[in-house]
Amino acid sequence: MINLLKTFVLAFSLAAPSLAFAQDGPENLQYFPTDMTREEIVAEMRHFSFALGVRCQHCHERNPDGRGFDFSSDANPNKEKARVMLFMTDQINRTLASNLAERSNPPVVVICKTCHRGSEKPRLLWQEMLLAAHEGGAEAAIDRFDYLRENYDNTGTYDFREQEVNVAAEELAAEGMHEEAIIIFQMNAGRFPSSEAPWVGIGESYEALGDAAGAIEAYEKALSLNANRRDVIGRLEELRGQ
Ligand code: HEC
Ligand code: HEC
Repeated sequence: MINLLKTFVLAFSLAAPSLAFAQDGPENLQYFPTDMTREEIVAEMRHFSFALGVRCQHCHERNPDGRGFDFSSDANPNKEKARVMLFMTDQINRTLASNLAERSNPPVVVICKTCHRGSEKPRLLWQEMLLAAHEGGAEAAIDRFDYLRENYDNTGTYDFREQEVNVAAEELAAEGMHEEAIIIFQMNAGRFPSSEAPWVGIGESYEALGDAAGAIEAYEKALSLNANRRDVIGRLEELRGQ
C-alpha cells in the first residue's frame, strides 16, 4: 500500500515515546496499514495531537478502570472524525492534487497541520471573530481576538496582522452589521495607527448607515494617513457635493 501521508509524516515525527502498551499490535486500524507497530502508530498520533493542539484523551477513551486508554475503542466520536480526516487528507494528496498538470518534485504534501496549525477546528482569525460577532456582537469578537492573541502568540495558529482583522470587519459590513464592523475597524485603527485601511472601512460603514458626517470624518482621517487613495478622494468629493 502506497501511503504518502505515512511516509511524509513519519519522516517529520519525533521518536516514539516509550509508553507501556500491551505487547500485542494495534487491533482496530482502518486507515493505517495493519502491520504497523504500536511505536509507528504512536509516532503518528503524536503528530496528530500536536497538529490539533490536543492530547490523546481528545480522541481516545480511558479504560473502564480509569487507568490508561483503550486505544482500539471507537467510542470517542473525535476518533471517527479523525479517521474521516485521514482518508480525506489521503484523497487530497493522492487523487485530487494529482489532477494538476504538473506537480512539484517531490510533491508538496498536505498533512493535518497544513490546515489545523495547532487548533481543533481550523478556523482563521477572521472566521473566529466573525463567529463570535454573530453570537455576541462586536464586544464578543474583540474578546475572542484578545483571548487568541494571548494564548496563541507566536504559535503560527492565527495570523494577527492588520489585514486579518480588517477582513473580519469587512465580512460583518457585507452582512449589513455596520455598527459591529465600525467597532472592529476602530479597534484595528488603534492597533495600527499609521494605516488608513481601517478608516476607509469605517467611512464605508458610516455611509451605508446614512451618516455622511461620520463618513466624511473617517475618510479625512484615512487621507491624512495616505494621501494617495484616489478612491477615498472620490468618495469625499461625492459626499461633499451632496
Ligand atoms: C485527533 C484524534 C486522535 C488523537 C489526538 C490521538 N489519536 Fe490515536 N487514533 C486515532 C485514530 C483515528 C486511530 C485509528 C487509525 C486507523 O483507523 O487506522 C487511532 C489509533 C490509535 C492506536 C491504535 C489502536 C488499535 O489498537 O487499533 C493507538 C495505540 C493510538 N491511537 C494511540 C494514541 C496516543 C498514544 C495518542 C496521544 C499521543 C493518540 N493516539 C492521540 C485518533 C487519534
Ligand atoms: C484540508 C484541510 C484539513 C486537513 C488536511 C485536515 N483537516 Fe481536520 N478538519 C478540517 C476542517 C475544515 C474541519 C472542521 C469541519 C467542520 O466542523 O465543519 C476539521 C475537523 C477535524 C476534527 C473534528 C474537530 C471537532 O472538534 O469537531 C478532527 C478530529 C480533525 N479534523 C482531525 C484531523 C486530522 C487528524 C488530520 C490529519 C490526518 C486532519 N484533521 C487534516 C480540515 C482539515
